[in-house]
Amino acid sequence: MEIDVPVLMHAPRSVRVERIQDETPSIRSFWFSDATLHHARPGQFAMVWVPGVDEVPMSVLAIHGHSEAGLVIKKGGPVSVALWDKKPGDKLWVRGPYGQPYTVGHHHRLLIVGGGTGLVPLISLLVHLRGREITLITGARTASELLFKDWLIRESKEHNFKLLFATDDGSYGEKNQVPKVVEHVLKADKFDAIYTCGPEPMMKLVYDLARLKQCHMQVSLERVFKCGLGICAACVIGPYLVCRDGPVFSERELSGMPEFGHERRDLSGKKVPLGVGH
Ligand SMILES: Cc1cc2nc3c(=O)[nH]c(=O)nc-3n(C[C@H](O)[C@H](O)[C@H](O)COP(=O)(O)OP(=O)(O)OC[C@H]3O[C@@H](n4cnc5c(N)ncnc54)[C@H](O)[C@@H]3O)c2cc1C
Ligand code: FES
Repeated sequence: MEIDVPVLMHAPRSVRVERIQDETPSIRSFWFSDATLHHARPGQFAMVWVPGVDEVPMSVLAIHGHSEAGLVIKKGGPVSVALWDKKPGDKLWVRGPYGQPYTVGHHHRLLIVGGGTGLVPLISLLVHLRGREITLITGARTASELLFKDWLIRESKEHNFKLLFATDDGSYGEKNQVPKVVEHVLKADKFDAIYTCGPEPMMKLVYDLARLKQCHMQVSLERVFKCGLGICAACVIGPYLVCRDGPVFSERELSGMPEFGHERRDLSGKKVPLGVGH
């Protein structure tokens, strides 16, 4: 029997973990060789399958080597814990890359705002945008949870961008919440565009600030993905499918999504307030 190439493209393929790095006490990165994911654009995601557990979307980090790709995983529930147990040489199952990436066009003065593993697609974007005038704001509860802190400090010196950290407990950078830092920065400076990814309540506050400033904005949304390629509608929001039309959306698209910042669908498809578990 002949199998279509497009069907094969969507079949999970096995890759072997080559190296693992602890990034924070709860976030670990897993690196492997996959020429297809290596070409993922900033903001695109892979579907990552753990046989017998489940398959979930993960941002792809492809900033090193000729075919290397990385997943940066926060330890939480069943899938992420199963992934955390992987050792170098173990197999991962991936498909993709899928979804719409961030777009930049001619924008030059850029504000990048990330929190938690939401920083992952923004790191790809940052590397992609070297040479533009960039301010990056990121935060965490406490210093040890600041993802890629040392790498960002080195990059900001080497590639000359402005870097601002915020921690809830003031153990590193400004003692503040990220949206408050964004508010101060937007008062002092003008930007052509804002790019954000992180907890949705944070992104909604940043979105509201961007609208006040009439600043172009792109937001990467997180929803339950099942097929990951626009077939099942598990990820529907307003008139959009997040896996196919996003995960990156512009402020114009976000204005047509009353659910943004307020509610999402659980694993059964029922609408629930943001913050309620799967
Ligand atoms: C575009 C996108 C990019 C993401 N990038 C990252 C990343 O870089 N790093 C990272 O750590 N996480 C990322 N996530 C979140 C990730 O998909 C999972 O939600 C997360 O790993 C939690 O799953 P869990 O099993 O560990 O725990 P729980 O949150 O406890 O989930 C319980 C169960 O619910 C189901 N489930 C949870 N989330 C999803 C989902 N989004 N889609 C389908 N089923 C789900 C699974 O069966 C899971 O085992 C991303 C999500 C999206 C939509
Ligand atoms: S996850 Fe199936 S349509 Fe988006």
